[in-house]
Amino acid sequence: MGQAARFEIYFILGSAGAAALLAWTGVGWGLVWPLAVGPFLARNLYYLFRLAALVRRKHRLAPPFPRGLWGEIFRTIAQYQQRGRKRRKRQIRFIRRFREATVSVPDALVVLDKRKRIEWANPAAAVLMDVQWPRDDGKLLTDVIDQPHLNEHIDAGDYHRPIEIAPVHNRALMLSLRISPFGERKRQRLLVARDITKLYHLNMIRRDFVANASHELRTPLTVIAGFLESLADSPLTPAQHRRPMELMHNQSERMRSIIDDLLTLSRLEMDDRSGELAAVDVPAELRLVLHEAQALSGGLHEFAAQVDPDLLLIGNQPELRSAFSNLVYNAVRHTPPGTRIEVVWRDDGSGPLFAVHDSGDGIEPQHIPRLTERFYRVDKARSRASGGTGLGLAIVHHVLNRHDAQLVIASEVGTGSSFSCRFPSASGMRREQAEPATHAVATSG
Ligand SMILES: Nc1ncnc2c1ncn2[C@@H]1O[C@H](COP(=O)(O)OP(=O)(O)OP(=O)(O)O)[C@@H](O)[C@H]1O
Ligand SMILES: [Mg+2]
Repeated sequence: MGQAARFEIYFILGSAGAAALLAWTGVGWGLVWPLAVGPFLARNLYYLFRLAALVRRKHRLAPPFPRGLWGEIFRTIAQYQQRGRKRRKRQIRFIRRFREATVSVPDALVVLDKRKRIEWANPAAAVLMDVQWPRDDGKLLTDVIDQPHLNEHIDAGDYHRPIEIAPVHNRALMLSLRISPFGERKRQRLLVARDITKLYHLNMIRRDFVANASHELRTPLTVIAGFLESLADSPLTPAQHRRPMELMHNQSERMRSIIDDLLTLSRLEMDDRSGELAAVDVPAELRLVLHEAQALSGGLHEFAAQVDPDLLLIGNQPELRSAFSNLVYNAVRHTPPGTRIEVVWRDDGSGPLFAVHDSGDGIEPQHIPRLTERFYRVDKARSRASGGTGLGLAIVHHVLNRHDAQLVIASEVGTGSSFSCRFPSASGMRREQAEPATHAVATSG
């Protein structure tokens, strides 16, 4: 407290004492008012009104300040004001820097409120997605960009995987779009779109190259395999040439099967959705697959099946058959004789589950994440000898992706392996549900 203020307090206490003394000695209040309290009260009222007026008009308090207590009050308020000004300046600087950073981000950023209205977007969003801010401020995202696929994705609420979109305003672009929920109860969303045009084209070139090369090789190989087969069987072929002919025929057949697998993979890759969906009778498919697997095993494996006979799956029948058979044949081809193979098909509450468990040699953990890569084999020599090319699990992976399902591989060396396909709950169907529907279609058609 300053000296002037202290003096003022002494003055107040002193005049109060003097007033009391005067009152006690009988001089009375009449003299005390005008002499002591009057000017003091007038000064206080003046500064009180002045301060009220300055604060009301949001004026900045600046020196010179009055002396005494009022001076301290004015000075303290001025300090608060200055601190507030500094904080605001810092915030403005921070916001400006943040804005500058978002302007220089090459990815499109769009903030949506909980009702999918555009709250903010950076300049890249104008170029990549045609969302222009502030022009589109407050508009529904669906009114600004025509992407029904994106709208469904936002509503679905599962943002683990990015989606690819081709913006309508610029057909040359391809974007990979990711959504992150944020804010209160995670109901606001940040859309981040990355330009993947180059990557997409490179991928397309690779895919087309593999598809075209496989397609071109298929016909000559068919001719070679056909002639080799007839030459190997022909009585005109000298006996010493027969064995090499047979080997050549086997190898050309192997090449044909590789090419067929590559063509299947390219076809699966073209589109990440399965075309024709129907209720697939999985128990019936598994009966056939198991029958063929037993033939392949030649009685060297022990089979068990735990199949729910009334559980069907909405999906693409040939694709599912190929995926399931790949997994069951793998359990036969990549395990030693005497292995027990169990096939499971049931709904365990979290959706339909197809699994193949075997008690084979197992797979070392470092190989597991790579098994779905094309041509990846744990033991190349052994796998090749058993006729494998390493494309089977890549096909399984693609088929499951197209069915929104997941492949889970668990294996322990010396104990065995499990390959499980987990399908979304909505894709399962009971047989009794499927049959009235087929009946209705049949009668209406
Ligand atoms: N049940 C299993 N037990 C042990 N190893 C397995 C099992 N299933 C797959 N593998 C390993 O994973 C590799 C990849 O399997 P994938 O089905 O992709 O190819 P493949 O069976 O060798 O050939 P393809 O299926 O194309 O004819 C196999 O080569 C094998 O090493
Ligand atoms: Mg296989």
